[in-house]
Amino acid sequence: MTKGYGWWPDEITSVGRENLDADHVSRYDVKENAHATEELRLLKELGLNGHSEVVDIGAGTGQFTLAAASACARVIAVDISPVMLAALKAKVSASGLSNVEVVQAGFLTYEHRGRQADFVYSRYALHHLPDFWKAVALQRLRQVVRPGGVLRLWDVVYNFDPSDAEDRLEQWCATGGHEVEGDWSRAELEEHVRDEHSTFTWLLEPMIERSGFEIKDAVYSGGGVFASYIARAV
Ligand SMILES: C[S@@+](CC[C@H](N)C(=O)[O-])C[C@H]1O[C@@H](n2cnc3c(N)ncnc32)[C@H](O)[C@@H]1O
Repeated sequence: MTKGYGWWPDEITSVGRENLDADHVSRYDVKENAHATEELRLLKELGLNGHSEVVDIGAGTGQFTLAAASACARVIAVDISPVMLAALKAKVSASGLSNVEVVQAGFLTYEHRGRQADFVYSRYALHHLPDFWKAVALQRLRQVVRPGGVLRLWDVVYNFDPSDAEDRLEQWCATGGHEVEGDWSRAELEEHVRDEHSTFTWLLEPMIERSGFEIKDAVYSGGGVFASYIARAV
């Protein structure tokens, strides 16, 4: 799925090995708690209501999508992985919710139709793109959300100096266990650092602001390996 240029990346090639692995997808909700209830509460504090439209990009198995759909007018769940989307669609069908639209697309190909969304939500997905393409993706997300709307972005983002990278990343990888069931293994964390594109907070934040968002809140956690942002579209 590309824009037709030979130089435009096909995002399925950087989707992450595990996100095309049916076994990983089937155990995802047990190993990863997306804190959807707390996230929904936060978005309600920021104005989400029964009239709101939300785009959840990199939606995965849809933990947040389903929570949000129970409280707003429409959620568009976007993901590049057909395996993740199959799991998400099954959950939407089982829930009986009729206000979820599922779109197979990526940050670089999703085309939003209709009025601009009130919220764009993305958790643990943007790191699949290298930095140049993160900047392009953020500018595209700015077109998806209306002025005054909110970008809620969580990701694995490194809040330290390159000189501290070896220590900090080894500390993080050491939190992983041996098993892939129920939690993240050391091998999975190593794979993230080695093969995916998490960047530094001090590179990502100027990209967010240059894209036309104003960062209202930034929270760093996990020993400097996670960051979550609330940003308003200017
Ligand atoms: C770690 S999961 C996060 C899922 C969910 N947001 C959550 O918080 O549980 C990362 C998701 O990003 C998706 N993804 C990877 N690259 C993507 C891209 N370029 N565009 C959209 N989604 C992408 C993967 O398929 C996967 O579903």
